[in-house]
Amino acid sequence: MAFKTLDDMDVHGKRVFVRADLNVPIKDGKVTDLTRITRTARTICDLLEGGAAVILASHLGRPQGVDPRLSLEPVVAPLSEVLGRDVGFAPDCIGPEVETMAAALRPGDVLLLENLRFHDEEEANDPAFADALCRLADVYVNDAFSSAHRAHASTEAMAHRLPCAAGRLMQAELDALAVVLDRPNRPVAAVVGGSKVSTKLNLLEHLVPKVDVLIIGGAMANTFLAAQGYGVGSSLCEHHMLDTARTVLKVADEQGCDVVLPVDVVVAPAFAEGAPATLVGVDAVPADQMILDIGPVSVRTVINRLAESRTLLWNGPFGAFEVKPFDAGTNAVARGAADLTEKGVLVSVAGGGDTVAALTVAGVVDDLTYVSTAGGAFLEWLEGKVLPGVAALG
Ligand code: 3PG
Repeated sequence: MAFKTLDDMDVHGKRVFVRADLNVPIKDGKVTDLTRITRTARTICDLLEGGAAVILASHLGRPQGVDPRLSLEPVVAPLSEVLGRDVGFAPDCIGPEVETMAAALRPGDVLLLENLRFHDEEEANDPAFADALCRLADVYVNDAFSSAHRAHASTEAMAHRLPCAAGRLMQAELDALAVVLDRPNRPVAAVVGGSKVSTKLNLLEHLVPKVDVLIIGGAMANTFLAAQGYGVGSSLCEHHMLDTARTVLKVADEQGCDVVLPVDVVVAPAFAEGAPATLVGVDAVPADQMILDIGPVSVRTVINRLAESRTLLWNGPFGAFEVKPFDAGTNAVARGAADLTEKGVLVSVAGGGDTVAALTVAGVVDDLTYVSTAGGAFLEWLEGKVLPGVAALG
């Protein structure tokens, strides 16, 4: 889809409203992960260098009305540090006081607004609320790909009301996804993990015709194993989805998409730190044990398939990576993918909430070609859905 970028805008002397996604984890008043702040900083810096003043806005959490625990104020200090300049803070995102603060901004100034979702009108995509936000600025930039699956006032309606462009992070996310899905080097491998087939069914259906190898991991794989007649003991498994899993396998076969499932697995009596873990073949899972990770033969198989591929799309972990030692399979494949990327064999793009957390545990976030900051939006894009925040920029 064609959209304007910052390169198409003259922002000199303008006030630019940047919709970022600063929905960051905060504990005891401190931001605990700076990723989303640092990734959007390039947009802000480019705008400031171009002679603009920046009005930065975001949601934080899912408040019901005003909730001081979900104030964006704790973001001011880390944001100032990342940008290397003072950032002002407005006590609201609309209204006369904020309009006065916005009007007083000089080129090079940055003003962060309070949580957009303190107003219900944000999520309602309310036109009057969008008008009130637009009164603060001359130009609208959307840098919040990770919120682009929401048709909210600040992600959708504003783009129809002001000259608009995609920010650098939005642009990078869309470019990375286009490389993988629209014009990939083949063969293309997709890793789809996570706990439920039911939540990833649209994704599987959309990917099967597009990829050459579909590698299934996580508890989802248990449902596929059960669909093939294997006993999965007390593992997480959607027994009502067995027919669906069989249909996915059949369609994949018809379309020439190879499906890779685990051949050996790590089982334990319970999902708990220190639970005694045993390695077994998928045909020997004890009735009272649950599958919590893939085994070394599966890891090698997956890495070999990646080595034969040229493009990798990764969504979802292989095992219960939050608890050791069940992170081993995901860590080993992640390091394998990072090595292949470093050697120039593989273009690797990963995303989705759990995926980023798992790749962070594996220590490879900076070693893949691109790791998306998005959770739900990444998934919806991969499902082939139109994201309202992206569509509005077109
Ligand atoms: C995210 O963290 O995925 C985005 O900020 C969207 O948040 P939401 O699911 O509350 O809209």
